[in-house]
Amino acid sequence: MSSKDNIFDQPMDAPPPFVFDEAVAQVFPDMIKRSVPGYSNVIAGTGLIAGDYVQPGSMCYDLGCSVGASTFAMLQYIRTGDFRLIAVDNSPDMIELCQQNISDNPQANRVECVCADIQNIDINNASVVVLNYTLQFIPLQQRSQLLTRIYEGMNDRGVLILSEKLAFDSEAEHQRQTALHESFKRAQGYSELEISQKRAALENVLIPESLSTHMQRLGDIGFKDAQLWFRSINFASMMAWK
Ligand SMILES: C[S@@+](CC[C@H](N)C(=O)[O-])C[C@H]1O[C@@H](n2cnc3c(N)ncnc32)[C@H](O)[C@@H]1O
Repeated sequence: MSSKDNIFDQPMDAPPPFVFDEAVAQVFPDMIKRSVPGYSNVIAGTGLIAGDYVQPGSMCYDLGCSVGASTFAMLQYIRTGDFRLIAVDNSPDMIELCQQNISDNPQANRVECVCADIQNIDINNASVVVLNYTLQFIPLQQRSQLLTRIYEGMNDRGVLILSEKLAFDSEAEHQRQTALHESFKRAQGYSELEISQKRAALENVLIPESLSTHMQRLGDIGFKDAQLWFRSINFASMMAWK
């Protein structure tokens, strides 16, 4: 059980830029469930998609794994007896908790938890690659390069699952979606202070892009049939095949 997220509940002079440190890692499951509409559905769906598209003898990657939610879902739904899963995060606090969480799982021997920048790891023989709410933290000008490296490390007919917060081209739509997302957070028990301080902390740290930008880039890189499979308010999940 993770602790309750109260990281932003006291007034701060100027909230510092958001980081995935020990304090965030300790409350992360509660924080992400109460902040990202549809999170639990996306995690369960990630497991189902992995179960459908994993190839025997191949690798699965959970890039920006945090404390391991997508890794757990994949272990739950993959039925082939022959795969390995690499879970990667560059936050030592996240990867330590991920490692601890996985150690009790009967399939722990299939999983390697790696503390590294996902832009520097080798990706090979991959049939499933998961980027759940992580690309949005990579600098804009480095996103194509990362996705290209992922594409090159994937097997034919391998699947990429990409989940992200969305931006909108229309200012009116952006305002409506942001207001609805804030209503969602209020309904999850966050105060106005928590919402506004977290918004300030994430400014210039989490940079969302529009659905059309994602789809266009996936196509340009060579992915076939990029599809939206889930959306809730301003958060979406796509899947794309090599
Ligand atoms: C919002 S969390 C991802 C949540 C997780 N995928 C899940 O669905 O529960 C983003 C994660 O990406 C990690 N991250 C951000 N930039 C990274 C990078 N360049 N390399 C590795 N991990 C990174 C952060 O440390 C954080 O744990």
